[in-house]
Amino acid sequence: MVIKDLQLETVVGVSGKLPVNTLPEIAFAGRSNVGKSSLINGLLGRKSFARTSSQPGKTQTLNFYKINNELYFTDLPGYGYARVSMTLRQKWGKVIEKYFRTSKQLRCIIQLVDIRHEPTKDDIAMFDWIKSTGIKTFVVATKADKISKGAVKAQTEVIKKTLKVPAGVDIIPFSSVTKQGVNEIWQQITALVSDLPEVSS
Ligand code: GTP
Ligand code: MG
Repeated sequence: MVIKDLQLETVVGVSGKLPVNTLPEIAFAGRSNVGKSSLINGLLGRKSFARTSSQPGKTQTLNFYKINNELYFTDLPGYGYARVSMTLRQKWGKVIEKYFRTSKQLRCIIQLVDIRHEPTKDDIAMFDWIKSTGIKTFVVATKADKISKGAVKAQTEVIKKTLKVPAGVDIIPFSSVTKQGVNEIWQQITALVSDLPEVSS
């Protein structure tokens, strides 16, 4: 997709109101520090449009990025970060749940997992829940530059088994360093969200 216009349109805090959008939304779910904001930057061809950090817990709001007046990317706070208080984690869980349940425009939830590790209990719970919503989904295995090519294949199998990824649902290795996976992920998004314009990245 040629990115002509990009803006952070809406930022929603724990007690904030979710926007009622009219364009398709694609959400990015995953543990803190897995690389959600980095993936968004990679897909948009920007270095640091979505804020990233080596410290987990960077994204603390739901951020709606409007792209070309055609679609939104929704960057979500990560789950599973022990140093965020239980109360705050529960509040976040509720906001994200409400967003997944009530958004009329949410067309696809991308589940991110770290390719180096077996998916955690939280990853499994999140992906089970995504599957239960019936919203389209696929998996992105992040930080692929950190392991060898052979290990990428083996780890993809581990992810498939642990998350019980249904047949026909893709697991795409991605690296924000090498940009491996950008084209495949865009293709997957446009294939699942049928009313988006053609991709040419
Ligand atoms: P929260 O906002 O805290 O939930 O984290 P996040 O999932 O948005 O992660 P973020 O994109 O901020 O990345 C976390 C850290 O991982 C940063 O230091 C990134 O530079 C690093 N990182 C993300 N993706 C990759 C990748 O593909 N390869 C490598 N080597 N590092 C990555
Ligand atoms: Mg983030």
